[in-house]
Amino acid sequence: MKDIDTSHMSWDDWDEQIRPAPEVTDFDRVVETAMTRRGVLGSLVALGSGAAVMGTAMLKGTTAIADGHATFAFTPIPTFTDNTVHVPEGYTWRTVARWGDALFSGAPTFENGHGVDGSDLIFGENTDGMELFRVGDAEVIAVNHEYVNPDINLALADDAVPTADDVMTLMNLQGVTVMEVARGAEGYDIVVDSPFNRRIHHNTPMVLTGPAAGHPLLQTSADPDGTEVLGTMNNCGSGRTLWGTYLTCEENFNGYFGSTDAAAELPEGFDRYGISHDSRYAYELYHARYDISQEPNEAHRFGYIVEIDPADASSTPVKRTALGRFKHENAAMTIANDGRVVVYMGDDERGEFMYKYVSNGTYAEGGPTDGLLDDGTLYAAHFSADGTGEWRALTPDTTGMDQAMICIHTRMAGSAVGATTMDRPEWIAVSTTLPEAYCCLTNNSRRAPGFTNAGGDAAEPAPGTPNPRAENRYGQIVRWRPDGADHGAETFTWDLYVMAGNPVVGLGHYAGSDNVTEGNMFNSPDGMMVDSTGLIWIQTDGDDSNEGAFTGMGNNQMLIGHPETGEIARFLTGPSGSEVTGLMWNSDRTVAFVGIQHPGGTWPDGEGSVPRSSVIAVWREDGAVIG
Ligand code: FEO
Ligand code: CA
Ligand code: CA
Repeated sequence: MKDIDTSHMSWDDWDEQIRPAPEVTDFDRVVETAMTRRGVLGSLVALGSGAAVMGTAMLKGTTAIADGHATFAFTPIPTFTDNTVHVPEGYTWRTVARWGDALFSGAPTFENGHGVDGSDLIFGENTDGMELFRVGDAEVIAVNHEYVNPDINLALADDAVPTADDVMTLMNLQGVTVMEVARGAEGYDIVVDSPFNRRIHHNTPMVLTGPAAGHPLLQTSADPDGTEVLGTMNNCGSGRTLWGTYLTCEENFNGYFGSTDAAAELPEGFDRYGISHDSRYAYELYHARYDISQEPNEAHRFGYIVEIDPADASSTPVKRTALGRFKHENAAMTIANDGRVVVYMGDDERGEFMYKYVSNGTYAEGGPTDGLLDDGTLYAAHFSADGTGEWRALTPDTTGMDQAMICIHTRMAGSAVGATTMDRPEWIAVSTTLPEAYCCLTNNSRRAPGFTNAGGDAAEPAPGTPNPRAENRYGQIVRWRPDGADHGAETFTWDLYVMAGNPVVGLGHYAGSDNVTEGNMFNSPDGMMVDSTGLIWIQTDGDDSNEGAFTGMGNNQMLIGHPETGEIARFLTGPSGSEVTGLMWNSDRTVAFVGIQHPGGTWPDGEGSVPRSSVIAVWREDGAVIG
């Protein structure tokens, strides 16, 4: 399974090792090429009214920062490289839930770890997307546990083969936690034994619905009907429905499947999705369904969006195949002007696509919701260099695939309609105040002449598009405005809200757009939420070496962007080694909950302890609304 030390790697770094970058770049040549394209943003400004607004807005934002007239209710903080969390003056943070904290009174005591017994009664590892729900008087958080780090979670030597108990422990530490939280003496705490508390993990029964349910490719020996499945995995970003349920998004599911037979033939489509004979955690040694030489269809049952009712701990989670199968980042639901449900979604892989789903039925508050996430049309985004774009429908006519196959091999359907190859679409957020939406394109180290995605679609540097830069190490945020101010529309205009970069050491477009300054620079935007006032909260998952191209950027962080002025200010920095991911607010927006994933060192417990991914609460010391 391992020839290299993968134990501390983030999932993306691990994937890079398994699927190494082709020999593409002579870095000097790439930089030179990019510099000759000086004016990428300038040329966008010349195209279309939306782009012109962006150019003006960025200048205003820069001026506001230079004049010290920041529009945010906090003093931006500098970068940090230490091993703790920093927030602005007048704000405080505390942990709410750490890996290993008890959800139930029968949970094992955490002593720098735990065994398999009771590992499904505790808060899981590597927290990611989350949402807070008001259920009666209770505040209930649903939060993802994306993956595990075996050497921390099991204290396994690098070359050790996990035991069956080890594998079960890892299965229990991932998935989703649903937990009630309440104000305590020092912030917010888990309400142990709350009837809402629940762990959903890799063996939790759930059902498959939508066009792919029951398809022969979803049938296994344990489930010949192809409608029931155990577990949800690599739960990355999140979403919430208009009707108060939680959406958890299965991202890098490919890495969980392996083969005990190195000669086993890989079924069609496995290459496009990165499913190979090598798994990350060796599940296949103990569970035949993860062994592609025995149950090749099991992998077709992951890569979906799963709906969970946070108000009913006995409810069965539902995998909604109508929303497509790919490396789902998050699910940003909104509503079209005619009442149809719209869900924006990114496929986080280099050169893959952005999607949206539009239901056939309509939603009305308090009305029936059956079928709204089972019956609709998927679209993939195409961006043109003139500042316009279109959502191309994935239908049997446009793809040559039937509806079930569109939902199982969604990437191939996107390729069939010529969707735009993107720089790793991570979180999408819909504005709460303006008819627009945003997507973090986190970075793309491989974008270079000759690069394609696994389907052979060209993913070269494309000036004038949302993906203009070669060897894009910093990332950008694309914004689109649907025509007619209707998220149900099939056409839109677009611009770049920000192109991250380093104005100190970056050359040409690697310096970033005008609203990136020495005082707010960052790399790899990933998590994103828009608050009720329309401010854009941006979280990063990038290189925190603070060296070379990343000099001066410090640890990963959370910033707040103004949608109209373009101003961006740093609000929080995470501990060294960590990614800041997952954000929501309590009911009155006086407390923000923020996820800290894969911290390094000994955060948060200090000397002698293992690092523990945690959800923290951040609030203003005067109790006022945050932001
Ligand atoms: Fe799990 Fe694409 O982040
Ligand atoms: Ca992410
Ligand atoms: Ca990321």
